[in-house]
Amino acid sequence: MTIDKLRSKALAISDLRAMARSHLPRGIFDYVARGTDEDRAVSGNAQAFDEIAFAPRVVRDVSGVSAACTLFGKPSAAPLVVAPTGFAGLLWRDGEIAAARAAAAAGVPYTLSTGSIVPMERLKEEAGGRLWLQLYVWPQRQMTRELMTRAQKAGYEALVITVDTPVAPFRPYNLRNGFSIPFKLSRRNALDILRHPRWLFNVVLRRYLRHGPMVAENYPEQLRTPLAAAKPGKFNLPFSDDVTWDDIRELRRLWTGPVLLKGILDGEDAQRAVDAGVDGVVVSNHGGRNLDCAIAPLRVLPEIVDRIGHKATVLLDSGVTRGSDIAKALALGADGVLAGRAPLFGVAAAGEAGALRALELLIEEFVRVMTYTGARTPAGLTPDLLRLPHDFTRQAAPAASRLAPALSSD
Ligand SMILES: Cc1cc2nc3c(=O)[nH]c(=O)nc-3n(C[C@H](O)[C@H](O)[C@H](O)COP(=O)(O)O)c2cc1C
Repeated sequence: MTIDKLRSKALAISDLRAMARSHLPRGIFDYVARGTDEDRAVSGNAQAFDEIAFAPRVVRDVSGVSAACTLFGKPSAAPLVVAPTGFAGLLWRDGEIAAARAAAAAGVPYTLSTGSIVPMERLKEEAGGRLWLQLYVWPQRQMTRELMTRAQKAGYEALVITVDTPVAPFRPYNLRNGFSIPFKLSRRNALDILRHPRWLFNVVLRRYLRHGPMVAENYPEQLRTPLAAAKPGKFNLPFSDDVTWDDIRELRRLWTGPVLLKGILDGEDAQRAVDAGVDGVVVSNHGGRNLDCAIAPLRVLPEIVDRIGHKATVLLDSGVTRGSDIAKALALGADGVLAGRAPLFGVAAAGEAGALRALELLIEEFVRVMTYTGARTPAGLTPDLLRLPHDFTRQAAPAASRLAPALSSD
């Protein structure tokens, strides 16, 4: 589908989500859309954004409004970054390249996941634009260092070290519908796949004929097995569960560009990250995909900005589906946001054009909200433009999942 057609068909991220849902086998759609356990954190992230309203200012000159900003000293069309999402190539053939091209066209950075199924060198060659690399630390630290050397050689700009995944998340829905790793064919998942022949042909078979089985191409060579045959390590994940601040200091020393820690939800941890020499943090609960009942990042953002905002870049993700969400995060002090599922739904709906439409929707609404609230630049979004419940930052537990019934395929 062309971008022009999408501009009339997809008027909100929810439209792209609905298209993704019809294109993908249900088990794969669930893997993208849902969280863990009871989807409480997914619900809590949406609820935190919903609780905030704007108190717009008027009679201000907003004629020259612009979303443009700088991120780590380089221009960006908006304070927006495409978040790292493993296995985007399961949604669309070369899905990572499609998303990265869309990010380049929209003028924002793209973060490649360690778990992607396209080699980082090919992505760099075929996508262009600003590329960041997300890193999971391996138990074998030498392998981590080799991955970083490979990325620096390929020209990746920033390193995003994810520190919130010491153990594999528990996804009961994927265990029930048979879409966990290693993949085992069952009656249920076979029927699900056969109901989506276009996906089977375009994503799985065509990829297989050109590049062989799907493999996490950026894993160290020793661990690069086809997804269908992957043998999870300790705690069901091949990643390290004993990362220390000394590791972070060392990785910081080895990488020449900006380094961010992703998965920070506490002011003290944010401070320790800065003490370890990182340039920024991503305040994130992994889109509600790891610790269910984790606090919504938006609720801890003011505390973290207070602690480190004057000396480090503070980005936020988890639950961004509207331009107004970007504006709310910025008004609470973030320098920018990452979006994970929104561009992924676009990729699943229509490849590069779909991802571009997702980014367009987010940026267009962000500019509209800036204009309505009287902010001519992203820096003009200030806390006085928001109205929050008095206990917004103190509310501890996410409410019982409002999304689970809609998401459920169990
Ligand atoms: C399908 C999927 C795969 C993901 N894979 C990774 C990953 O490999 N590494 C990582 O740091 N975060 C990963 N994330 C988390 C995102 O980087 C990001 O934190 C999250 O999606 C933000 O929430 P949102 O989806 O509500 O925007 C993944 C998210 C999704 C939806």
